[in-house]
Amino acid sequence: MRKGLFALAAVGLLATGSTAACGSNSDSDEGGAEGGSAVGKVGVILPDTKSSARWATADVKYLTDAFKAAGVEADIQNAQGDKTQFQTLADGMISSGVKVLVTVNLDSGTGKAVLDKAKAAGIATIDYDRLTLNGGADFYVSFDNVKVGELQGQGLIDCLTEKKAVKPVVTYLNGSPTDNNASLFKQGYDSVLKPKFDSGEYLKGPDTDVPDWDNAQGGTLFEQNLTTNKDIKGVLAANDGLGNAAIQVLKKNKLNGQVPVTGQDATVQGLQNVLVGDQCMTVYKAIKDEADAAAELAIALAKGEAPTTATSSVTDPESKKDVKSVLLTPKSITKANVKDVIADGFVTKEELCTADFAAACTEAGIS
Ligand code: BGC
Repeated sequence: MRKGLFALAAVGLLATGSTAACGSNSDSDEGGAEGGSAVGKVGVILPDTKSSARWATADVKYLTDAFKAAGVEADIQNAQGDKTQFQTLADGMISSGVKVLVTVNLDSGTGKAVLDKAKAAGIATIDYDRLTLNGGADFYVSFDNVKVGELQGQGLIDCLTEKKAVKPVVTYLNGSPTDNNASLFKQGYDSVLKPKFDSGEYLKGPDTDVPDWDNAQGGTLFEQNLTTNKDIKGVLAANDGLGNAAIQVLKKNKLNGQVPVTGQDATVQGLQNVLVGDQCMTVYKAIKDEADAAAELAIALAKGEAPTTATSSVTDPESKKDVKSVLLTPKSITKANVKDVIADGFVTKEELCTADFAAACTEAGIS
């Protein structure tokens, strides 16, 4: 027994010694011996292309770049807002043998069904941007989404103050009630605005959820709200798409620029709305950092390594379990610092400063 143990230890020492001595020569042999030389494939499912421009313009690009740079095979698909398609894509990825599955759910129910299947197949799972409630993903990568909401609430207050608004009626255009992020954003802006409503400084207008973040439906709902509440003086819109939908209705009523509207995602359209003064602010989330963080975790998992970067955690409000997380910091953007988004490489001056916006760009110090 003792002899056996000693022999094992000696082999261990020898092995360590030989790795150090032989350097990179021994790498391939070792990989082969452990059966771990094959790096697994990663599957990614993004949610849609309509609720925000980000999914089609930013996330897919940055994720593709990150996996390419690491030489890791990734199959990146978009469910186009279709929950059946989301499941079909996941089934395909699972049966094709992915080692890691990264998903942005369309709702927690269908998201969890996919996570359950993946886990049953021994696949590591990452919730990207949206937490799947009761989903039990291995990791979660997102922004501090309550902070996003706080920035929106504070941005709206700053714009209303600048306009010297008296007892303004403030309406909400919230995100999808099936997106946990929408709840977190609302928690953030409520925490900032509720004291104003409670004190009577602001008046609370319609509080409207927009199913699936559907921008067109958001416009219709806002139009109804404005028809019944003509004195709406501020719009807390949860993202740039919904903000733009409200702005189009305000334009029809010649109220754009007078009624501050918030947003999120620093989309080209949102930033242009900010530049001309139709939108009060947007929230910039560095999606490159989010994509890089998710890819870093996925790459480690695909290589069979234990990730070390998910140092925070969030508590799933349904299961009450902690999910290891990477949470990034959002930034408030007004006309004064639109240039920071360009400096960060998220949008280019050429995309933003087209003919109609050239003068506004110059005014905002974008040259
Ligand atoms: C994301 C936002 C996005 C929204 C609609 C949220 O979960 O965090 O960035 O605007 O979904 O797609």
